[in-house]
Order: sequence, then C-alpha cells, then structure tokens
Amino acid sequence: MSYNLLKGKRGIIFGALNEDSIAWKVAEKAYEEGAQLVLTNTSVAIRMGSLDKLAQKTGAKIVPADATKIEELERLYNEAMEYLGGKIDFILHSIGMSPNVRKKKPYDNINYEYFHQTLEISALSFHKLLQVAKQNDVINEWGSVVALTYIAAQRTLTGYNDMAEAKALLESIARSFGYIYGREKRVRINTISQSPTETTAGKAIKGMDSLLDFSERMSPLGNASAEDCANYCVTLFSDLTKKVTMQTLYHDGGFSNMGMSERAMHQYDKSFDNY
Ligand SMILES: NC(=O)c1ccc[n+]([C@@H]2O[C@H](COP(=O)([O-])OP(=O)(O)OC[C@H]3O[C@@H](n4cnc5c(N)ncnc54)[C@H](O)[C@@H]3O)[C@@H](O)[C@H]2O)c1
Repeated sequence: MSYNLLKGKRGIIFGALNEDSIAWKVAEKAYEEGAQLVLTNTSVAIRMGSLDKLAQKTGAKIVPADATKIEELERLYNEAMEYLGGKIDFILHSIGMSPNVRKKKPYDNINYEYFHQTLEISALSFHKLLQVAKQNDVINEWGSVVALTYIAAQRTLTGYNDMAEAKALLESIARSFGYIYGREKRVRINTISQSPTETTAGKAIKGMDSLLDFSERMSPLGNASAEDCANYCVTLFSDLTKKVTMQTLYHDGGFSNMGMSERAMHQYDKSFDNY
C-alpha cells in the first residue's frame, strides 16, 4: 500500500548492488511512495550487479560514483540535480565494505592498510557525501540523510571485526554533521541500526547464519527484514519525522534492549541435555 509519503521528493540512493541489497528495497519503496530517484554505486558494482533492472523499474537514472572520491560525488550531485530538476530532498548511504572481513583477517591480526580502507569506504564516505552536499548546497531545507549501521558499534559481536569501528565512526559523523547541517540548513541526519540481513555484505560476516538465528531468537519481534528497513527509511525521508536528527535509531525487533530471551534460553539449554 502506498501513502504518497514522498510525493514530489527527489532522492539519491547509494549502495544498491542486487535484489538482496537493503538499498534496493529502499529504492523500490521510495518509488512506490512517489519519489523520483537517482541510483549510484561504483562502476565495478554496476557492472557486476543488476542495477539496470532497478533503474528500469523505478524510472531512475544511474550515475556511477565511488563515494570515497570527492570529484565523483560532485559530478554525481550535478547530474542528479539536472536529471531530477532541482535540489535533493533525501539521501540514503547504504555502503559498507571491509577488506579484513573479506580476506578473513582476524581482529587481533589485522592488516592496517585494509583497516584504513574499511574506515574510508564504510564511514568517511558518509562525511564526504555530506560535506560535498553542504558545500554545493545540494540538499533542500528539511531534507533527510540516512545511513545504515549495526549494533556492533555499541556491543561486541564476534566476527564483525573492524566494521565495528567503522560503524562507531559512522554514527558519530551523523551526530557531529547533524548538528552543523541542522543548525545551518535544517537538514536532518540519522543512522538506522538494522538487524542482521542476508545480503552480499551481510553474508561476508563470519558466522552470519548463527548470528541471524541468535538475533531472531533474542528479538521479541524477530529480525527486521530489508523490506521492513525500507519502510522505516521512507518514514525518515518523509515530512512526518522533521524533528528527528542526530540519532542512532534501532530497527531490530527489540534486540538492542534484550539480555536473554526465553527462545534463546531454550536453545542454549539444549547444550546441557547430557548433564
Ligand atoms: N546486511 C546486514 O546484516 C546489515 C546489518 C546492519 C547494517 N548493514 C549495512 O547496510 C548497508 C548496506 O549493506 P547491504 O547489507 O545491503 O549489502 P550490499 O552488499 O548489498 O551493499 C553494500 C554496498 O556498498 C557498495 N560500496 C562498496 N564500496 C563502495 C564505494 N567505494 N562507493 C560506493 N559504494 C560502495 C557496494 O557496491 C554495495 O552496493 C551497509 O552499510 C551495511 O553495513 C547491513
């Protein structure tokens, strides 16, 4: 069902790679809610993934950009404003990558060059897209910028590796930039802390299947799916949440406030069956 929550709004969606991507679902939902879109990803991801299909479905233009490169962000914003016919109302940052995770380097034997790349791609790209947008006055007043994060920024979860630091930095950027952009241009900036989700990036995390099962059992409402996340993003892009900014918003079925649940205890008890 559509509520026309984004009617007349122009948005840029970073990070849709394939149909599993959270950004993919967000683009579909935003389109259903009346938004006009530009989709962006790196040239390699566009070649490897299936972004064309999403662009056709949503009437969007694809503009390639590496979100760590200032010139590419400038070009992206110029082309997006030209295509959409004006300034931007919302942006989704749905970007994450850790070479240490990919190459299975454990946290206590980390490669520091990779660590820099993790922070650069997964967190500093957020600062860059905000700074370039602000300096070029790309976003309309009361516009909304959302980035996706994970609870490993606050709590230690085995296997998440240096992405934990990247997410902590990402959330901090949302607060620091949210203050400045809010004060000067009424632009709001938030992060959504999403449940584990089976996507290309998600599957790279060590022990993802167990993590999905664990957080499903621990969350009173169960894990939030990518579609659920897309719905939440739409509310944050809409005018219904104008005074929400600088927040880490937990979208995880209640996981973040749990210690132990009955369902998880039941599963854990099975390990004592032989005693
Ligand atoms: N999947 C999960 O369990 C989960 C949970 C919480 C948060 N998140 C976050 O959600 C976001 C989206 O991830 P996803 O799970 O949909 O996986 P995904 O693999 O579909 O998306 C990650 C995207 O980042 C893009 N990317 C990588 N380097 C880039 C660069 N330099 N410039 C521009 N784009 C670049 C990739 O091409 C890809 O499209 C990430 O920030 C991720 O950390 C995911």
